[in-house]
Amino acid sequence: MTEHRDSNFIIANNARYGWHPMAHPGDMQKNPPRIVTAAEGVEVIDIDGHRLLDAVGGLWNVSLGHSAPSVKQAMVDQIGRMAFYNTFRGTTNDRVIELSVALREFFAPEGMERAFFTSGGSDSVETALRLARQYQRIIGQPERTRFFSLKYGYHGTHFGGASVNGMNKFRRQYEPMLPGCHHLPAPYTYRNEFDSEDAAVIARGIAARFEAEIAFYGADTIAAFIMEPVLGSGGVLVPHETLMPLMREICTRNGILMIADEVICGFGRTGAESGSRLWGVQPDMMTTAKALTNGFFPMGATLISGTIAEAFETASGADGTLSHGYTNSGHPVGAAAALATLAAVKAQGVVANAAARGEELRAALERLKQKHEIVGDVRGKGLMAALELVSDRATKKPLDKGPVQALFDATYEAGVMVRTSGNNIIISPCLVVEPADIDRIEAALDTGLKAAANAR
Ligand SMILES: Cc1ncc(COP(=O)(O)O)c(C=O)c1O
Repeated sequence: MTEHRDSNFIIANNARYGWHPMAHPGDMQKNPPRIVTAAEGVEVIDIDGHRLLDAVGGLWNVSLGHSAPSVKQAMVDQIGRMAFYNTFRGTTNDRVIELSVALREFFAPEGMERAFFTSGGSDSVETALRLARQYQRIIGQPERTRFFSLKYGYHGTHFGGASVNGMNKFRRQYEPMLPGCHHLPAPYTYRNEFDSEDAAVIARGIAARFEAEIAFYGADTIAAFIMEPVLGSGGVLVPHETLMPLMREICTRNGILMIADEVICGFGRTGAESGSRLWGVQPDMMTTAKALTNGFFPMGATLISGTIAEAFETASGADGTLSHGYTNSGHPVGAAAALATLAAVKAQGVVANAAARGEELRAALERLKQKHEIVGDVRGKGLMAALELVSDRATKKPLDKGPVQALFDATYEAGVMVRTSGNNIIISPCLVVEPADIDRIEAALDTGLKAAANAR
C-alpha cells in the first residue's frame, strides 16, 4: 500500500505545485481550493470532515451518485483481469466490443450506429469535427471545411473545440483559433440581440441568421454545425423546443452535418436519455463523455449515424481510414465502467428521476427568485439549472466576484456544494437525488443568497 501524507502536509501543498483548470494559478495559491477527500451517495466530505450535498454532481458527470457500487466493482474486476490493452488496428478488447453494442441500443432512437471511443469530452468534440471534414471529402465535397456553432456554447478546450466555443474567455489567450469557425447568437432569453424574451422568437432569429450566413459563405463551404441541446457551461441556456429541429432542417437541406454535443446532456441530465431525444432530433453525430462512466473513468465516445458510417465503411483506402485516435480509445476499464453505468441508468429509472426532481428544483429556484432581488434569472431543464445573479434587476448588471464568492462560501458552510461561473450559480446534482435533497439545496442557497446580498 502507498503511504499517504497527513492532512497538514496536504493542506500546506494545496495548489502549490499543481495547477488547476480554468483558474489563475497565483490566485489559487492565495485562496486555495476546498479539499474533498471522500464521497458517498449524493454527498462529499472535505478534509475537515464537513459533509456536503454535492449539487455539482462531480462536474455534471456523477449521475448515479458517488457510491455506485456496481460501477466500482466492474472497474475492479476489469483491472484484475486486464487493466489495459490498446484498440489500434489489429487488436481490441472484449469490454469495448460489448460497449459498442450497448451504446447502439441505448441511442437507437437517435439513430446512432457506431461509436469511436475517446478519453473525454474535448476528444469527442475533436473527433466529431475531424470526422465531419473527412466525411465531406469522402462524398466529394472537400471544400466543406467551415464550422458553425452557437455563442455561449462550450465544446472543450482542444483547438477545434475552442474554435467553435462561443465564450470569449476560453479563446482570447490562445488565439488565433482555427480559421473558418463562425458563431450564431445564443438562445439566451435574458440577454440577447433580438430584443425579445420570447424563446420561440429567438429560435426563429437564430435560424434566420444561420440561413443568411449559409447564403453568404455558400453551403458548399460548410462541413458541420455543432450545438449543445441545452447549453451547459455557458450558464444553462435552455433553447425553445423548436430551435434544434429548425437547425436540423436547415442542416439537412444544405448538406451540413449536425453534431449534438451531448457531453453534459447525454445519459439523462436533461430528464431525457439525450438532449437530442428531448427535442426530437436525430443528429449526424453525438459527442459524449462525463456520465458515460458515471465520471469514474476519463472516457468519451463520438457516436455516428448510419449514413455517415456507410460513407466511411464503403470509402476506398485512405479516404475512409481514420487517421485519428487516442492511446486510451476503448480503454477496457473505462468500457467496463460504462457498461455498468448504462445498466444502472436503465435499472434505476435515473432518467425519469432527473425529470421529476428537475421540476422540483426549478420550483425551488423560482421561490428563491421571489425572495432575493439579486436573482435576475432562473433557468433549467432536468437536473441542470442556473441562477443568474445581478446587482440590479433593472439594469441586469452582473453581480461582482466578491458577493458571488460570499454565496459560495455561505452555501458551503450551510452544507451544499454549488459551482459558480462568473455571475451564474450552476446546480447539477447527481441524478439520483431525492426530494429532501432538493429541499437542502433550496435552504442552503437561501442562506448563500442572503450572504451575497450583504456582501454587496
Ligand atoms: C458540452 C461540453 N462539451 C465538451 C466538454 C469537454 O469535456 P472534457 O472536459 O471532458 O474534455 C464539456 C466539458 O464540460 C462540455 O460541457
